[in-house]
Amino acid sequence: MSSNKETPIKTIGFVLIVCLVCAALVSISAVQLKPLQVANKLLDQQTKILETAGLLDVAGDDIVATFNKYVDAKMIDLDSGEFIEGDPLLFDERRNSRDATKSEKPDNDIAGINRRSNNAVVYLVRNDEGEVNTIVLPIVGSGLWDLMYGYVGLESDLNTVRSVVYSDHKETPGLGAEVMNPKWKALWPGKKIYDDKGEPKVHLVKGGAKANDIHGVDALSGATLTSNGVTRTLQFWFGEEGYKPFIAKYRSSLGKGGVN
Ligand SMILES: Cc1cc2nc3c(=O)[nH]c(=O)nc-3n(C[C@H](O)[C@H](O)[C@H](O)COP(=O)(O)O)c2cc1C
Repeated sequence: MSSNKETPIKTIGFVLIVCLVCAALVSISAVQLKPLQVANKLLDQQTKILETAGLLDVAGDDIVATFNKYVDAKMIDLDSGEFIEGDPLLFDERRNSRDATKSEKPDNDIAGINRRSNNAVVYLVRNDEGEVNTIVLPIVGSGLWDLMYGYVGLESDLNTVRSVVYSDHKETPGLGAEVMNPKWKALWPGKKIYDDKGEPKVHLVKGGAKANDIHGVDALSGATLTSNGVTRTLQFWFGEEGYKPFIAKYRSSLGKGGVN
């Protein structure tokens, strides 16, 4: 009798060994690639923030150094609008907004986010003279298919839009995904968020905004549902349950000698 004869036990043993080796390889790669994934995610975020601040050309290939030179990330409490202690690098909006101890259900959830994190990170962007000339504020709200994440860059009056940059969404290419189209993004600079009474009036206009509409931007054609989501997202985040308390506090601190 040959000892090389295949038996069910040998076959199962072989399959088990292959499975164990594969599982070990997958685990080792996952652990080893984790820091790279974290670094890439941070780089992507910093790239979007620099784009929102109009500093992408200045940065060239040197995103991290440019970000560190010009951008000051700060934690805020959204209800009080105050700056708070905390490491912005450790802040995870998506995780916080799933945690009932770190988030709350908005009274008027027009952005369709379900829960809003109690805290947020805001980005103060300085010019070469060290003056804050852009404030970048993260936004999130429902599109047609899922939540859409992005940033709004405001000039130092905290009312004039410098840019609206979406970073992460699942809208349809050619329809809702046109939020990424440079031609649509180019419609934003100079638009005003608030009206004279301090109410957020910024909105997308189906069929096209009038030339003299300081709060209106053309809606995305064939994508009314995404466009409505963008309008509601902006109105939520610049309202009382969003950045309005922070904007009021920040403005009054400017009157008292500025923010550090
Ligand atoms: C496969 C598919 C994907 C769609 N994706 C989007 C989308 O990403 N955003 C959107 O607003 N509408 C999308 N629509 C169209 C909407 O169902 C709806 O018709 C549209 O928002 C109406 O916009 P309009 O009034 O500008 O034509 C999609 C439709 C289909 C069939």
